[in-house]
Amino acid sequence: MKFLDNWNRATVQWTRDLTPTIRLIELLPAGRAPAWTPGSHIRVRVAIDGRAETRCYSLIDDGSADGRFHIAVKLAENGLGGSRAMWALKPGDAIEIAEPDNHFELGFGAPSYTLLAGGVGITPLVSMARFLMRTARPVRLFHAVRNREEAAFADLLQSWLGDRFQLQVESESGRLDLAKILADIEPEGELYVCGPIGMLEAVRKAWEVAGRSMALLRYESFASSGHHAKLPFTVALPRFGCEIQVSAQQSLLSALEEAGIDILADCRRGECGLCALDILSCDTPVDHRDVFLSDRQKTENRKICACVSRPVGGRIAIDTAYRGLVPAGPITNRQ
Ligand code: FES
Repeated sequence: MKFLDNWNRATVQWTRDLTPTIRLIELLPAGRAPAWTPGSHIRVRVAIDGRAETRCYSLIDDGSADGRFHIAVKLAENGLGGSRAMWALKPGDAIEIAEPDNHFELGFGAPSYTLLAGGVGITPLVSMARFLMRTARPVRLFHAVRNREEAAFADLLQSWLGDRFQLQVESESGRLDLAKILADIEPEGELYVCGPIGMLEAVRKAWEVAGRSMALLRYESFASSGHHAKLPFTVALPRFGCEIQVSAQQSLLSALEEAGIDILADCRRGECGLCALDILSCDTPVDHRDVFLSDRQKTENRKICACVSRPVGGRIAIDTAYRGLVPAGPITNRQ
């Protein structure tokens, strides 16, 4: 099920490669751009193998600029195809976008702000850093990358924050000292994290172990990271009396939608939990890539967030809690 959105047309103004795999894209929306806040994202419609799909990208600006949208897209050669479609855009191309939305809002009363990013997870934190710097709030930003060439925005952030910005290149200096970063945050200070699922889980655990309030930890994921490689699998839906083949390049959610099965979904990146479905059985481990389900729920394995999580091959049987529309005629997909 798609929520009612205000979709609008935008034109690609220019593109610029920040690193060999991260491309900055400027979009000019038709009409007046609505206001947005730091941490916001926009959704874009992309065509993948003839299917219309939706992808989310954080806005780099903090909303104080000229109404143009800037997004940074990491090319994932083995991904589901969204980044390849975005990288194919040229200046002058038209694209459909939804109005900015924010699931990763910055609080305004904290005594200090610590921002922590892994890889391309830096994108929503750029807008936050800019806002916090402009409003003279105490901020530190840590960015972990595997190689120096992945360090998009490092020069910009260095110029804004000076020694309050730390770039950690893991191939040169090893991993960030998470325990030290957390220990240096004052009791009421807020921590904002965006990165791969492993980083989010490690931070969440360390935060809990330190006895800190979960209300002071905010995080956003990117949907492409998991614990296992993506493999094709079969999904069975006893309610509909059918089985669907899901390719390695497709999400469970998009396969169900393509088969005409109406599923509730919103963020499409494992954060809101709207797409969580009941698992009836599964003959392989489930790669839970969301940040919505708790560790206990992931261990119990009774729910799966269809937008990002998937079994590691094999066969999974699910039930759709949302009864929604029952497709007319036999269910098929394009596998
Ligand atoms: S749509 Fe939000 S978690 Fe799947």
